[in-house]
Amino acid sequence: MKKIVSLIALACAASSLMVACGDSNGEKKISVGFSQIGAESDWRKASTESIQTEAAKRGIDLQFADAQQKQENQIKAIRSFIAKGVDVISFSPVVSSGFEDVLKEAKAAGIPVILFDRGVDVSEDGLFKCFIGSDFVEEGRRAANWIVQNVGEEAGIAELVGTVGSAPATERAKGFREVIEKHPGLKIIKSQSGDFTRSQGKEVMEQFLKSPEKDQIKVLFAHNDDMALGAIQAIEEAGKKPGKDIIIVSIDGVREMFKSILAGKSNCTVECNPLIGGALFDVVEKYMKEGEKAIPTRIVSEEGVFDSKNITQAVIDGRKY
Ligand code: AHR
Repeated sequence: MKKIVSLIALACAASSLMVACGDSNGEKKISVGFSQIGAESDWRKASTESIQTEAAKRGIDLQFADAQQKQENQIKAIRSFIAKGVDVISFSPVVSSGFEDVLKEAKAAGIPVILFDRGVDVSEDGLFKCFIGSDFVEEGRRAANWIVQNVGEEAGIAELVGTVGSAPATERAKGFREVIEKHPGLKIIKSQSGDFTRSQGKEVMEQFLKSPEKDQIKVLFAHNDDMALGAIQAIEEAGKKPGKDIIIVSIDGVREMFKSILAGKSNCTVECNPLIGGALFDVVEKYMKEGEKAIPTRIVSEEGVFDSKNITQAVIDGRKY
């Protein structure tokens, strides 16, 4: 029986006709293997919920694997999706490099890959069909522009960096520097990774606040809200007022950060939209019906910037994540 199932899976994967395999009731369900990074932040939890809810709504057979922050788990999951012969593979890469081999394996098996949320560095074209997600460089620029416009030309900046080697960490840092470097009085005086988690954001901020440069820190730029929320705790424990003694700018736009801004403990969050499960399955369904040529190679999320000027209780109540 097992052999028959894998033969069917192989036949489906190899088929040039883009038809989904039927389930035991004879219904045609599209199967998608998705490798998620983990649950490092509120943003990530919202991302997972968006994927799972959208798949269920559309009757898609979603095979979801949580990589628990490890690239090796993502590679294993992708290999198992290839072996099962899913219709489409999608994943949010924990880091940008090191996926080339497994992407070549997916290509050789005839299974299209859609990158979700984060990009990868590959030297060959055609290893993925579409990339759906934010423009992280632009997010970094937006954070820096807010500082230029609201803090001014002179400030020492501490930076809490995301996961080392991940696209959002590399690209947000790049966009941020692009703007800051045009203002010589704005100086990045501390920069360290907090791995996108609240606990490490707090730990690293504690170290910053004990460092010889501690009194020069006027602004904190955190690559995500969770690290900023951890840092707020550290700042309060050090007897300072977050949002006043140290101006805080972060990225994501999660509800808890909105509350923090309304309470005056933080100042700005640049939106990064995790609710893109619908966009993913729109592309999957279009691909299954009309083929590769019908789908775009890049879909960029539309996002805003939030601070005390546009966050109200009504905005918080309507926030979905
Ligand atoms: O890739 C998106 C980033 O990853 C979000 O900013 C962060 O919160 C998440 O963990």
